[in-house]
Amino acid sequence: MFSHVPEPRYLTHVILDRASVPSFEEYPFNLPIVRSLDRLELHPRVNFFIGENGSGKSTLLEAIAVRWGFNAEGGTKNFNFSTRASHSRLSDQIRLSRSANRPLDGFFFRAESFFNVATEIERLGVDGCYGGKPLHEMSHGEAFLTLMTTRVDGHGLYLLDEPEAALSPQRQLAILTRIHDLVMDSSQFLIATHSPILLAYPDAWIFECSGEGLRRIEYEETEHYRVTRDFLMNPARMIKLLTE
Ligand SMILES: Nc1ncnc2c1ncn2[C@@H]1O[C@H](COP(=O)(O)OP(=O)(O)O)[C@@H](O)[C@H]1O
Ligand SMILES: [Mg+2]
Repeated sequence: MFSHVPEPRYLTHVILDRASVPSFEEYPFNLPIVRSLDRLELHPRVNFFIGENGSGKSTLLEAIAVRWGFNAEGGTKNFNFSTRASHSRLSDQIRLSRSANRPLDGFFFRAESFFNVATEIERLGVDGCYGGKPLHEMSHGEAFLTLMTTRVDGHGLYLLDEPEAALSPQRQLAILTRIHDLVMDSSQFLIATHSPILLAYPDAWIFECSGEGLRRIEYEETEHYRVTRDFLMNPARMIKLLTE
């Protein structure tokens, strides 16, 4: 599917320099996905990271973002504010293998610290390019969609941590369309998500983060797909099973 799309591949591999890890007994190196990390090959266009809360998706995404040069709390390379003293040391121990292609754009979005990013965007006085309405006055979902449509303009590497947070199903579909447009415009994505809607994007690799480490699985194998499908096939029966 989509065999005609370009091959940007800005980030090709994430490598853990295992010899320089101080201890695999401490956070973040004790997380199963880090413990077992060696050399992770990435899809040139869309990569999803799924897994239970606490499996380490945000830790991994943040380390990649920091290593790439993004601010740990999110934003572009120009943002260097920090309200949190330190990010995990994982960023010091990973190496990023980059292709010869250089992205022209980039953004690291984390739902958890979106408020700080909105503050910084306003502090930098660039809210005019967000449709003239301050991001703080928009709902979280509106603000994210606004960023994805106005601030982000292709040929970029985009790291998104739970972009679906606060988005209605209809807006998740809109994000899916936007992701596809940006992919067609030579972009690459790394996305941590719980959304069975976003995960359906076909031209992607899905990495499951679990106690066993990271492994690639197909969409239909994901818990997100199976649980949602089973539930929607017969909600009344599921509710009965859950509450009996
Ligand atoms: N600074 C920290 N020190 C120790 N443990 C942490 C720290 N930050 C996160 N953790 C733990 O690491 C685990 C992974 O967290 P996180 O990467 O946020 O997971 P996810 O994004 O998959 O929900 C969690 O159990 C969390 O409590
Ligand atoms: Mg997280």
